[in-house]
Amino acid sequence: MGMEDRKTFFDRHAASWDDRFHSAEEQARLAELVDSFGLAAGDAVLDVGTGTGVLLPFLRKTIGHRGRLAAMDFSFRMLQHAAERRKVADATIFNASVESIPFCSGRFDCVTCFAAFPHFPDKAKALLEMVRILRPGGKLAIAHLKSSDEINHLHGQIGGAVAHDRLPDPEALRLLMEDSGLIDISMVNEPGRFIALGRKA
Ligand SMILES: C[S@@+](CC[C@H](N)C(=O)[O-])C[C@H]1O[C@@H](n2cnc3c(N)ncnc32)[C@H](O)[C@@H]1O
Repeated sequence: MGMEDRKTFFDRHAASWDDRFHSAEEQARLAELVDSFGLAAGDAVLDVGTGTGVLLPFLRKTIGHRGRLAAMDFSFRMLQHAAERRKVADATIFNASVESIPFCSGRFDCVTCFAAFPHFPDKAKALLEMVRILRPGGKLAIAHLKSSDEINHLHGQIGGAVAHDRLPDPEALRLLMEDSGLIDISMVNEPGRFIALGRKA
């Protein structure tokens, strides 16, 4: 499946996304997940593949009102539904693809990529772009509230344009992250949680 098929898929599912994939029970787990990214008050953060912006209020709470928060997604319909959270989180929203991020190099302290990485067709290119916009020492966090097996199984069940979208196994992802210029890489892959963190050299 190509990029346009995926974009159509996410546009089509945007209206029902939160009801289908985000429960009230998940809120506490999201707060815990964002805590694990090691953000600081005042940080500049970009959330890539933000969808309806589920992570934005948690990021804002962590970086405080002095922090800069931006969110990006290639699905315009997803971003339309993110509008409410954007009001809460005071985030700047961009409709763009990870293959060509509309920011200059070294701009962010952290890039978050929650539940989106498996959908990027060229993972090496996506990583290079996300790392490019980090300042030296800045962090990339690729995260899910599922293990890699659970995510890959879910995509198979959902089918359609995302049926074959895979999160690489941790060792393969570690190599890709190293190749993109990240160091101090750590991985957690367990039921209910996947977190890959790396720091730009
Ligand atoms: C599974 S959804 C997760 C959305 C959100 N992070 C959440 O957890 O609700 C994946 C998101 O990544 C976006 N996405 C997929 N491929 C993308 C790409 N190449 N560039 C930018 N966004 C992309 C989709 O539009 C979708 O909103």
